[in-house]
Amino acid sequence: MIKHLGVVGAGTMGAGIAQVAALAGIDVMIYDINDTILRQALERIKADLKQGIARGKLSTEKMAEAIPRVHPRTSLPDLHSCEFVVEAAIEDLRVKKDLFKHLDAVTKTSAVLATNTSSFSVTAIASAVRKPDRVVGMHFFNPAHIMMLVEVVRAQNTSEETIRRTFELARDLGKTPVLTKDTPGFIVNRIARPFYGEALRILGENIATHEQVDRIVRTIGGFRMGPFELMDLIGIDINFSVTQSMYDQYFGEPRYRPHPIQKRMIDSGTLGRKTGTGFYSYEDKKK
Ligand SMILES: NC(=O)c1ccc[n+]([C@@H]2O[C@H](COP(=O)([O-])OP(=O)(O)OC[C@H]3O[C@@H](n4cnc5c(N)ncnc54)[C@H](O)[C@@H]3O)[C@@H](O)[C@H]2O)c1
Repeated sequence: MIKHLGVVGAGTMGAGIAQVAALAGIDVMIYDINDTILRQALERIKADLKQGIARGKLSTEKMAEAIPRVHPRTSLPDLHSCEFVVEAAIEDLRVKKDLFKHLDAVTKTSAVLATNTSSFSVTAIASAVRKPDRVVGMHFFNPAHIMMLVEVVRAQNTSEETIRRTFELARDLGKTPVLTKDTPGFIVNRIARPFYGEALRILGENIATHEQVDRIVRTIGGFRMGPFELMDLIGIDINFSVTQSMYDQYFGEPRYRPHPIQKRMIDSGTLGRKTGTGFYSYEDKKK
């Protein structure tokens, strides 16, 4: 079992992954570009663990042990001793390639470098690293502390040893890893695109309101959440970037065309739960 995990990006996913790892007994160095984001991430982790206690799913001792295992960092070289790093920064290929170039320079060559990208080519991200055999996709789902599935993405040069260690970490975190090919959106996001895309078109064509669509999908379809509730949870910006990236990577395939409703929401800073408003309002429970 690894002892030191690096997490890059302290947003929705980075904080969730750090929380799961700390609970599993792993020391976590979590890096982001500024202090405020890191402080907010720690607050979110604490609040979530407290909720776990209130629901009887976690003991106060477990929480007290987990919190000190999360070390916030604003300097990437601080991750030098990590045996495994999971990158969960914004869904922007340039940002990710740049981060991997830096991670290549500051980490030991024996460390695995994983990306939590939802849609980009892991092979393209790995091209920023001198030994791309240590780069892999490790795609967690939101909320990372609840969702069991982790897609492990084998890029063109990923070694068997890197795949083995990624499966091992996923299992140590209590997850169920599934090996996927390095195709845009892997398995789950490919299936999910029409779910969001058609829902947005239904709304755009005034066929039904977002509340109606969510209610139907939840109550009659048996889904845990409707597409609009899910987009708010994911973050409108992240969801849009993933769709845009898949649309581009499939050379303008109309099935993946992004919708102007989401673009307008991004322009107005209406990004879902993380900003307090999306398709729904969360002002009273803003994280
Ligand atoms: N939100 C989801 O449902 C979901 C699910 C699975 C995978 N993902 C993927 O996880 C990644 C992160 O998504 P998120 O929802 O956590 O996004 P987010 O917007 O909540 O957080 C992104 C974080 O990246 C940080 N960041 C930006 N540039 C950085 C840099 N150069 N170095 C370090 N940190 C930087 C930001 O400060 C922010 O804290 C994306 O690749 C996304 O596609 C998201």
